[in-house]
Amino acid sequence: MHRMRRAIYTTSFVALLLAAPAVADEGPMTYPFGRSHMSLNGNWPIIVDPYGTGAVDYRRRPRSDGFFRDAQSKSDADLIEYAFKNENTLRVPCDWNSQRPELLYYEGSVWYRQRFDLTRKPDRRYFLYFGAANYRADVYLNGEKLGSHISGFTPFEFDITKLATDGTNTLVVHVNSARDRNGVPTDQTDWWNYGGLTRDVLLIDTPLTFVRHYRIHLDPNDPRTIIGTIQLDGPKQAQPLQIAIPEAGIKHDVSTDQYGRAEFRIPAGNLKRWNPDDPKRYDVTIACNGDRVTEKIGFRTIKTARHQILLNDRPVFLRGICLHEEALGDGQRAVDRDQAEALLLLAKELNCNFVRLAHYPHNEWMVREADRLGMLVWSEIPVYWTVNFERAETLTNARTQLRDMIERDANRAAVIIWSVANETPRSDVRLKFLRQLIDDTRALDNTRLVSAALETHYDNPTTISIDDPLGEYLDVLGCNEYLGWYDGAPAKASTITWTTPFQKPLVISEFGAGAKLGHRGAKPKRWTEDYQGDVYRQQIAMLEKISFLAGTSPWILKDFRSPRRLLPEIQDGWNRKGLVSERGEKKIAFEILSEWYQQKDRENLSTAKVQNDPLHP
Ligand code: GCU
Repeated sequence: MHRMRRAIYTTSFVALLLAAPAVADEGPMTYPFGRSHMSLNGNWPIIVDPYGTGAVDYRRRPRSDGFFRDAQSKSDADLIEYAFKNENTLRVPCDWNSQRPELLYYEGSVWYRQRFDLTRKPDRRYFLYFGAANYRADVYLNGEKLGSHISGFTPFEFDITKLATDGTNTLVVHVNSARDRNGVPTDQTDWWNYGGLTRDVLLIDTPLTFVRHYRIHLDPNDPRTIIGTIQLDGPKQAQPLQIAIPEAGIKHDVSTDQYGRAEFRIPAGNLKRWNPDDPKRYDVTIACNGDRVTEKIGFRTIKTARHQILLNDRPVFLRGICLHEEALGDGQRAVDRDQAEALLLLAKELNCNFVRLAHYPHNEWMVREADRLGMLVWSEIPVYWTVNFERAETLTNARTQLRDMIERDANRAAVIIWSVANETPRSDVRLKFLRQLIDDTRALDNTRLVSAALETHYDNPTTISIDDPLGEYLDVLGCNEYLGWYDGAPAKASTITWTTPFQKPLVISEFGAGAKLGHRGAKPKRWTEDYQGDVYRQQIAMLEKISFLAGTSPWILKDFRSPRRLLPEIQDGWNRKGLVSERGEKKIAFEILSEWYQQKDRENLSTAKVQNDPLHP
């Protein structure tokens, strides 16, 4: 395999790694878009291969002459039963399901080919970077296997310095979107299994020694100090570096050790704090001999105090909404900046300051746009419903996705919560599995909050208790509840009291109801905007009474494709719990929620007292 590196994990994470089953110890470089690169996006010739014929023969033996060879017939006598044709292409980045009607429901293998010309320089290295490929990707260059990757929502890369040739290089990627009972996610989800090369593909070139990973943020224990780590990759491990934030008058010199690693502490001076109303970001440059990377980064602190969430030491109420990584329109993965911006601006219009990116790490444009626009983010790995908690490989898979999610977005001020699971059934093996992920999260990043979306539990017919044993290990309790939709009539919400044994803030991470745009009717007619609106009114009245509530993210911003939603003329393969239709047309409930959020914003919780706050007695 063409990649081996020591990533910049905290020492405790290395200890964890050594303790538990192996997680591959590398992560893609930080900020690939900020490096010298060539985009390989475009229309790629493809072969749809439902039987995986390009990989295995009729005895299921791996083929040595598989499609990765991109074989060209040299004479009429040659027997070759496949070919990549320029007339038969798919757009990259994009899922294949939305590109052709016959591929809408397709789950299986597709082979992609891309050619690129290269004139290698002796003082440069070359990497192929994939933003993501759903679900399993086998990658070949010039007929040689570079490696494989599983998980449809995290980036991966290959060092091709040795394998690339001068002139034309042939890249072949075999993507298989088949669902896996033992996978992460497992084979049952409530979202469309969009397959393919769904995110950017880059050819990156770097100096022989370059800045592979870096983290920079305020010290959560001493916010007047900037701290961070840098990890070099290459022959010149020990060397001087400089961290510069010109606008803040900061220039700091530090040196890496013999492992190419450096840690730093810098007085923050009067650095402005990032917050949703004023998402201030600074140009931060990290430079070593021969390499420099500049990125826009915001600085803020996030923590909890009993039932409150404190942003920059001030209480904040998370006025949120959930969203899938699906663009406005007829159902396709959101893959670029504009599509991300369009979704986040809709959330802004809802008076949101927070989005829950469900149920998997969204593309990098989404979190960068949240950073730019000022939207707090809950980011999650797809440990969703009944993942196979018994299986060590499934845990390793989840741990790797967690590491890659955190590694990619660690410098995003917008991201405040890492979530390790959604609606997972209580059991000892599940608790052990999730505790491992929580420990990993704290070891990888102790500057953010850890949560999970728990399920409700009735103490008695009118009392819901957030007492899932997992709550003990979380910073923020997330809870999905569907009072008025799966659980009783809308008015039931008014009868419910909420309790919890945990002195922690609660975020209602889901509530909602389905409605088909334009369907109207007297309550209690389901699927009407009126019914959905009533559920929101009843929920809001109930939520206002929960003393330990620190935020909410209703399900969901936009109607989205789901193969589980099959009611004709209403759902037709769409989950209709959006506050807007798939094309962005508003339903009644949109207004109801945006008004409540406006009122919440006016309450301007920032003036509220911090509960038993040593800073403000
Ligand atoms: C669940 C789940 C979502 C799902 C939603 C629904 O809570 O987390 O992924 O789409 O409920 O039923 O609509």
